[in-house]
Amino acid sequence: MSLFGSTRTKKVKPARKLEGSIQMPGDKSISHRYAMLGAIAEGPTEIHFFASSADCQSTLHCLRKLGVKIERRESVVTIEGAGLGGLKAPVEALDAGNSGSTMRMLAGILSAQPFPSVMAGDASLSRRPMKRVIDPLTQMGAKIRSAEGGRPPLEITGGTLRPIRYELPVASAQVKSAVLLAGLFTEGETEVVEPAPTRDHTEIALEQMGADIGRHHRTIAVRGRARLTGKKLCVPGDISSAAFFIVAGLLAPESNLLIRNVGLNPTRTAILDVLAGMGGRVRVVNVEMLNGELLGDLHIEPGMLRGGEIPPEMVPGLIDELPVLSVFGTQTEEGLTYHGAAELRVKESDRIAVVAENLRRMGAEVEEFPDGLRVAGRQKLRGAEIETRGDHRIAMAFAVAGLVAEGATVIRDSACVDVSFPEFFETLDKATA
Ligand code: S3P
Repeated sequence: MSLFGSTRTKKVKPARKLEGSIQMPGDKSISHRYAMLGAIAEGPTEIHFFASSADCQSTLHCLRKLGVKIERRESVVTIEGAGLGGLKAPVEALDAGNSGSTMRMLAGILSAQPFPSVMAGDASLSRRPMKRVIDPLTQMGAKIRSAEGGRPPLEITGGTLRPIRYELPVASAQVKSAVLLAGLFTEGETEVVEPAPTRDHTEIALEQMGADIGRHHRTIAVRGRARLTGKKLCVPGDISSAAFFIVAGLLAPESNLLIRNVGLNPTRTAILDVLAGMGGRVRVVNVEMLNGELLGDLHIEPGMLRGGEIPPEMVPGLIDELPVLSVFGTQTEEGLTYHGAAELRVKESDRIAVVAENLRRMGAEVEEFPDGLRVAGRQKLRGAEIETRGDHRIAMAFAVAGLVAEGATVIRDSACVDVSFPEFFETLDKATA
C-alpha cells in the first residue's frame, strides 16, 4: 500500500438505497461536556458510549495533561474526578487539535485555575475566532492573551473569578458553556443571556451532576462553588452524524433505514423539523430519557421532497447540518434557501464557500450570500473530485451527494471524517451494500 494510501481519498458510487439498522457514534457535544464535568466533579464518572470522534479525544488528552486520571476501554471512559480545586498545572501547551469545543469550553475552566496555561490547535482551529470567549472570561477576571485578531493560541492566566451577567453577542453553545463553567468556580450567580436558544447539554449535565441551574426564557444561571458529583452516564448517538444518513436515506429512492439510539434533545432536532416540513418521511420511535437527554430510533423512507426556505431563526439550531441540507436542497422540487448563517464561515472551514465550490464541481447551480446559500432544485449532480479543505462535515455531506450523482465521486482527504465520525465510510458501506 502506498504511504498516501486509501485513507486520503475515498470513492463514493451512486446508490439506490440505504437499508438495515445502523448506529451512530456517541454524541460529540455531550461527550465533551461529560468529560469536562467528570474531571472537576468529586468521585468517579463512568461514561458509556463515549464519542469515538478525534475532537473528544482532544478533550480527554487536555484533561490528562491537567492531571486528571482517565481510563478508556473501548467506548467506556472512566474519569477520577479531581474536584473543583484539583486540576494540576500542565507542563506543556494543551493541544485542542481541530476542536473548537475543547478550546472554548476548557477556556472557561482554565480561567478559574490558580496556574497559567496555554491552549493551541491545528491550522484550522488556529484561524477560528476566540474573542467570543476571551471577552466574557476577561470580564470575570481572567487574563487571556491570544494571537492577532483573537485567534489561538490562548495564554490564560487564571485566578479568582467574579460572577457576571453576560449577554451573548452571537448564539453560541460553546461560549455559553465557557461562561457557565467559569461561573461554577465563582462566589455567586453567573447569568448568560442567549440571543437564540442553542444546545443545552451543559445545563442538563450540570443539573445531573448536582449543580444549581436556573432557567428563565433566554437566561441561564449557575450558582458558583457547587459541588459536582461524579456518576454513571450514557451518551446518546449523535444526531448531527445521523443527519448524513437521514438525508441519504430520504434521497435514495428505495431506502428503508433504521438509525438506533439517536439523541433527540429538542435543541438539536431542528433538522427533523425542517426535513419533515419539506416532506421527508422520518418516524421517531422508542423514545426514552437518559440522564436528562432524550433519545430514540429514527426510521427513514424516501418520498417527494419539496424544499423551500429555512427561516433564519431556525439556523442556530441547524448550524452543523447546513452542509448536508445544502446537498439535500439540490434534490428537492423547489430547491433550498437559507440566510442568517454567517457563523458557517468561521467553522472548521468557510462552509458557505466550500459547499458552493464543491456543488459547482458537481455541476450544480448555487448562489452564495454573505450569510447563506440558495441551491436550485431538481438538479442532476455529476460525480467529481471533492475538496474537503480538511473539514469533516464537508467530506460527509459530499459523500451523500456522491450517492445521488451520476458516476463516481472522489472525496479528497477523506480521513478528516475522524474528527466527528471515524466509522462514517464503514457505516455507509454497510447501509448501501
Ligand atoms: C457545539 C456548538 C456549536 C456547533 C459545534 C458544537 C457545542 O457551535 O457548531 O459543532 O458542542 O457546543 P457554537 O458554539 O457556535 O454554537
